[in-house]
Amino acid sequence: MEDLPPLDGSRVLLRADFNVPLGPPSPNGVATVEDDFRIRATLPTIRWLTEHGARVTVITHLGRPKGRVNPAFSVEPLRPVLERLAPGVELEENLRFDPGEEANDPAFVDKLVAGFDAYVNDAFGTTHREHASVVGPPSRLPSAAGRLLEREVRVIGDLLDEPDRPFVALVGGAKLSDKLAVLRRLLDKVDKLVVGGGMAFTFLRALGHKTGSSLMELSKIEESRELLEAAGDRLVLPVDIVALSPGGEIGCGSAGSGDVQVTGVDIPIGWKGLDIGPETRKLFAQALEGAKTVLWNGPMGAFEDPRFASGTKAVAEAVAAVGTKSETASPGSAVSVGSAVSVGSAGSVAMTIVGGGDSVAALEDLGLTDEVGFVSTGGGATLELIELGDLPGLKALRAASNAPKARGRAAGDAGLVGDNARLGDDAGLVGDNAEDLSMSGSARSSTSRVVSSRVGSPRRRSARHK
Ligand code: 3PG
Ligand code: MG
Repeated sequence: MEDLPPLDGSRVLLRADFNVPLGPPSPNGVATVEDDFRIRATLPTIRWLTEHGARVTVITHLGRPKGRVNPAFSVEPLRPVLERLAPGVELEENLRFDPGEEANDPAFVDKLVAGFDAYVNDAFGTTHREHASVVGPPSRLPSAAGRLLEREVRVIGDLLDEPDRPFVALVGGAKLSDKLAVLRRLLDKVDKLVVGGGMAFTFLRALGHKTGSSLMELSKIEESRELLEAAGDRLVLPVDIVALSPGGEIGCGSAGSGDVQVTGVDIPIGWKGLDIGPETRKLFAQALEGAKTVLWNGPMGAFEDPRFASGTKAVAEAVAAVGTKSETASPGSAVSVGSAVSVGSAGSVAMTIVGGGDSVAALEDLGLTDEVGFVSTGGGATLELIELGDLPGLKALRAASNAPKARGRAAGDAGLVGDNARLGDDAGLVGDNAEDLSMSGSARSSTSRVVSSRVGSPRRRSARHK
């Protein structure tokens, strides 16, 4: 933001990701914000802008109204929260009420930027979307990354660049096809890759196990097998399963139905694996022992049903147990993985990074958010950043007319995430940077070059809950 022209008296368009969970409507018909984490995470940026004399207007999406005005997706419930946390900041109606947002329509971009002097993107959770409000304004206005975006990108960059070892990643979630590329990328980086959740069953099938009626992506079995071969014993899979009997239903809010049993790694016909079993909980916790860097993304089971929540809880607890408490972490901890680890006492304290809405919700439920080094506001954005080392919204910011020129940036250093080869092909080559690549700078300019050249000590220890 220091690269923006003087802001005193200016109007700043701030793209935030206030896509927050809403509770049921109160008697007056307006829903309440169930979790204001994403709103609070943007406050350092809002404060900085207002302290520099800018008038701030926030734009955000909320849910997926699919290009149509729909009162159920109105930002109205956010207004009282924003008014309390950041008085005087304006909030526009849901960007996705207009089809131009997701279509990245240039006419919609023009409409968005009209009357503004500068644009700031602090919507890390949405920066993987090539939507008008994310990629459009930097071609029209002086533009910059906000504090949250900078911080999130830097944490991931440091994580993949020079993690303190052992580095253990735990990945869960339902769909393997969403995460295969990320797993492959992580495997280049980690000492151990622990896989749970619905996606684990495709791996188990690839190993010849019986998976009953569990989630299965048959088209991914071959790729899973290749990954297993490449990983050897670095890939850790469940050894027992909590399964639901044939015809049983998962409960969500309401009570579910059917019998629940712990099975071995082979699941009987008709039974559906929905969580990791007790032996696996121990195994996964052991995998974290002695780790210096831990990344967790995705639940271990269908944790919305309490019968299948134990695995996710156990992992949340295990991650918290090995991690730097955020209280003891230095202000730089969340942006400097290495130093966060050496701060602290016994040398057995890991830098822990948790991303993804479900994992974060599990931490919250257990009151463990403060026991984790860094809680990300991103889900899909975090994974895409790990996978590709860059995001559309970051590329757009680098191409802004006021963006600092990336001199001496080596191809492998061009983007956010260390040595991702892809970055040499495209990401760094914006504007007049191309010829500079041959200069092959030595500085570790990675993230700072991409989003801004000045990442100071952030005001807040980390962007996280409570
Ligand atoms: C999210 O919550 O994942 C982000 O706000 C992006 O939302 P989207 O997945 O609907 O694009
Ligand atoms: Mg999403």
